[in-house]
Amino acid sequence: MAELKNRQWLLAARPQGMIKESDFRWNEAAVPALKDGQILLRNRAFSFDPTQRGWMSMDTYIPAIPLGHVMLAMAVGEVVESKRPDYAKGDLVQGLFGWEDYTLTDGRGLFGMQKLPPGTDPLLALSLLGVTGLTAYFGTLAVGQVKEGDTFVVSGAAGATGSVAGMIAKIKGCRVIGIAGGRAKCEWLTAQAGFDAAIDYKHEDVGEALKRHCPKGIDVYFDNVGGEILDLVLARLADGARVVLCGAISQYNQAGMLGTGPKNYFNLILHRSRMEGFLVFQFAQRYPEAIADLVKWFSAGQIKNQIDLAKGLEHAPKTIIRLFTGANFGKQLLELK
Ligand SMILES: NC(=O)c1ccc[n+]([C@@H]2O[C@H](COP(=O)([O-])OP(=O)(O)OC[C@H]3O[C@@H](n4cnc5c(N)ncnc54)[C@H](OP(=O)(O)O)[C@@H]3O)[C@@H](O)[C@H]2O)c1
Repeated sequence: MAELKNRQWLLAARPQGMIKESDFRWNEAAVPALKDGQILLRNRAFSFDPTQRGWMSMDTYIPAIPLGHVMLAMAVGEVVESKRPDYAKGDLVQGLFGWEDYTLTDGRGLFGMQKLPPGTDPLLALSLLGVTGLTAYFGTLAVGQVKEGDTFVVSGAAGATGSVAGMIAKIKGCRVIGIAGGRAKCEWLTAQAGFDAAIDYKHEDVGEALKRHCPKGIDVYFDNVGGEILDLVLARLADGARVVLCGAISQYNQAGMLGTGPKNYFNLILHRSRMEGFLVFQFAQRYPEAIADLVKWFSAGQIKNQIDLAKGLEHAPKTIIRLFTGANFGKQLLELK
């Protein structure tokens, strides 16, 4: 095969506060030769996830990305060359790849790599049927244990995970209240996504709005943001509430990243409630069951898959920043031209 040129974004600096475009460095290099056990992928689309802020900064559930290494992302690529018997040219593969045109991989690591059924839409695979859809599914059903009649509150509600969590809770017969930033997102939640109510945390008094919308307290809180909103929800728990700790994006740009803990935790005792963190990977054995349900609900029109699509590898750095300014509406993806 003729020598291929790879355009890529390398991690240039550990972010201080908000991610900056200068935290990445553009690089062009030849694609190295394939070794036995490897495949070469032409990347088709990248997922953007708040957790990437952690990978850039410190050891989490994966080691911190070394400075000078290609920036990592969940992605879908198409096999252009294979030295593995189980992968052939043209196969679509999902895994942890890089912000680059071509990724050479053996598929090892926490995320592994999965071959997608022929004809799969890479954008669907990285959104509703990818990490965020699965997180919404297991967070709502396995951790949140929602049941009919529950009052279900979700923050980051117009985002990839939050919107799907709310729609699943709705399918399960909950009264669903979303917390999101801005009128347009809140309007979408009630007009399009089927939520019963939405609270615009940027313009409303969240504590007062929770009191109004949840007069009998909150049975399940799906927390994507942490910080002050988590505290306001803890102040309004119903007896036997389940607080699902999915993420804490309001804290990710704080020094040390973990920010401050909740003040109102004592309500967990008073209301005999449970607060539980989870990582979607702990449910990996059950992904097929989740995907079957998500496909069924999506096909029946019960779940909308809202995608915010950027285009072109050169725009990757400014695209990741959108997650932290709230510019994204639904799942943030980037398609390579
Ligand atoms: N536990 C797991 O296994 C797992 C897996 C995937 C994701 N997560 C977590 O799930 C959460 C959502 O991730 P996602 O990929 O679905 O992203 P997303 O919700 O699609 O995008 C992030 C959203 O967060 C909101 N946001 C940003 N800064 C904020 C702040 N300071 N305060 C309040 N809200 C803020 C913005 O919405 P507004 O415009 O509404 O502010 C933004 O659109 C994150 O916390 C992520 O770490 C956890």
